[in-house]
Amino acid sequence: MASLKANNKRDAKDVQEFRGQILSWYDKHARILPWRAAPGQKADPYHVWLSEIMLQQTTVGAVIPYFTKFLDKWPNVQALARAERDEVMSEWAGLGYYARARNLHKCAQVVAGELGGVFPQSEAALKDLPGIGDYTSAAIASIAFDKPATVVDGNIERVMARYFAVKDAVPGAKKILKVHAHSLSDRRKDRPGDYAQALMDIGAGICTPRSPKCGLCPISKKCVAHKQGIEEELPVREKKSVKPQKFGFVYWVQDSEGRVLLHRRPSKGMLGGMVGLPTSEWVERKKKRGVKHLENLKDLTFAEKRQSVHHSFTHFDLELGLKCAISVNALKTQDDYFWCDENELKTIGFPTLFSKAMRLST
Ligand code: ADE
Repeated sequence: MASLKANNKRDAKDVQEFRGQILSWYDKHARILPWRAAPGQKADPYHVWLSEIMLQQTTVGAVIPYFTKFLDKWPNVQALARAERDEVMSEWAGLGYYARARNLHKCAQVVAGELGGVFPQSEAALKDLPGIGDYTSAAIASIAFDKPATVVDGNIERVMARYFAVKDAVPGAKKILKVHAHSLSDRRKDRPGDYAQALMDIGAGICTPRSPKCGLCPISKKCVAHKQGIEEELPVREKKSVKPQKFGFVYWVQDSEGRVLLHRRPSKGMLGGMVGLPTSEWVERKKKRGVKHLENLKDLTFAEKRQSVHHSFTHFDLELGLKCAISVNALKTQDDYFWCDENELKTIGFPTLFSKAMRLST
């Protein structure tokens, strides 16, 4: 709490002024996004929930096509609850963090099955649902139901770090940034959803990580970092430790009819529940890669491609050597492994790791 200095605290008048400036700015400059209600309209809680789950750790630009596709296919929570989980996973493919898709489907089933298709309105009740944590419950409560809630995503953190000139490094300073965000709460409960989204938009478009456009910012006059000329230096980030590297092989196996061997991964673990190409275990020592893999691949003669597949996950980088083989004799497939026509491959959604491998294989 070192940086919660008295001179950075704002009194009630300052808070009202701050919120007024934010909301006036939003009335003129709000981004038009497919999950947002038009001015004066009520947001649809299903749209808000779906977008907030998709927006976890993912940019607005990446989310828009997925959001539109999901709404076309499943226009309400009941439709999504009735969907096959595998189809939901396939449509989610490419968006990453696949636990979100599993929880999305579970949550839809709880809301449709146990709550009569109606999302709860309070942060506490929302947080009881699968896949909804502190941030998402606050975002849904405020945006869908106009409940006052302290919403703090990465963009809002940056705005707070600069407005209050917090020099402690994130992620350690996240708590203090939330305290600051909360200090700007409104006792009059004026448009909490618009306020949260306005801060997100200011963070995304004005208070950008590099070259912030302070000349366009509605709150720059009282922004402490701007006054001190240190806005570009904030927020300070703790030094990232080097990501561990893992290694393995990915297998492109075709039978004599050109069908490709695929694997549905176990529902727990990396890329859980997703369909992809078979891989060996991913291990930390390159020399040990490929020791453990699908038992019935051992009789095949593989050609190793010169290029490897590189992919970065949140907690490690992965390098997979690519091995290709033709299975002349009918290969006995184990559980969760199956053959797929080359034409049908195009209809399956694959995680990016496997799309990269397929581009190199074909
Ligand atoms: N990021 C997370 N939620 C968002 C929203 N509702 N609008 C814009 N960006 C967001």
